[in-house]
Amino acid sequence: MYIAHTIAELREHLGAYRHPAFVPTMGNLHDGHIALLTRARTLGDVSVVSIFVNRLQFAPNEDFDSYPRTWQADCTRLREAGCDVLFAPKEPELYPEPQTFAVQPPSELADILEGHFRPGFFTGVCTVVMKLFACVQPRVAVFGKKDYQQLMIIRRMVSQFALPIEMVAGETERATDGLALSSRNAYLSAPERAEAVHLSQALQRIAQAVRSGHPDLAAVEAEQMQALAARGWAPDYLTARRQHDLQPLTAGDAAVVLGAARLGTTRLIDNLELRQQPA
Ligand code: PAF
Repeated sequence: MYIAHTIAELREHLGAYRHPAFVPTMGNLHDGHIALLTRARTLGDVSVVSIFVNRLQFAPNEDFDSYPRTWQADCTRLREAGCDVLFAPKEPELYPEPQTFAVQPPSELADILEGHFRPGFFTGVCTVVMKLFACVQPRVAVFGKKDYQQLMIIRRMVSQFALPIEMVAGETERATDGLALSSRNAYLSAPERAEAVHLSQALQRIAQAVRSGHPDLAAVEAEQMQALAARGWAPDYLTARRQHDLQPLTAGDAAVVLGAARLGTTRLIDNLELRQQPA
């Protein structure tokens, strides 16, 4: 595996390839990331993973400083999984001067759900992804469905800026009890880890209500929020939305049920995609 710490090294190395397939990450890699890499390896003539903890997508009260940085373990996992190129710029390489230009996604996509609870988050994500795309110049980019709203917004960004990149979505990888794999799961204590599956179970109950055509989904969502709160969670949202723009669901829309909730000091997110409902 070739490791590039600078944009110049990366560009020189990638000059020999025509079809880079790219997986951007913030490190602390788990099986979900490795599944995205495995997919990427089938889609390009060279696989590129980036590890960069992007300050721009963390609010001042969030976990930028404590975000798990596991460089040696990440390198080992990537080597074992057959990654060709790891791009790991230090902050001054990617942001040599304050990054005052930004990619501002539209409010109707970026200020709802995650963006409502994490103002500015998607501006930080879009800005770094645009910059990483400029560095790697991938032909294919693989993003996980676990960050469903991020995937939707980046798809729109690629389309609106006519970037010559095929966007591929990887399924969410789950632990055997159903918990979606996430770098932030590392923060959970043993009792919290045992409790954590209740987020995906709450989403399952809302998904079941959608499937069965429940007449009052808002009531089901509220009930599931209360049930999580009663177990000691602080839920931000649990809601069924339409897949393509995450706006409220209307009959016949393909639905996705999304949720975010804090367990102790750890904020977890998850979602379940449903097949198209009959109109
Ligand atoms: O999903 C992530 O890990 C990050 O948001 C990303 C896409 C690597 C941008 O920093």
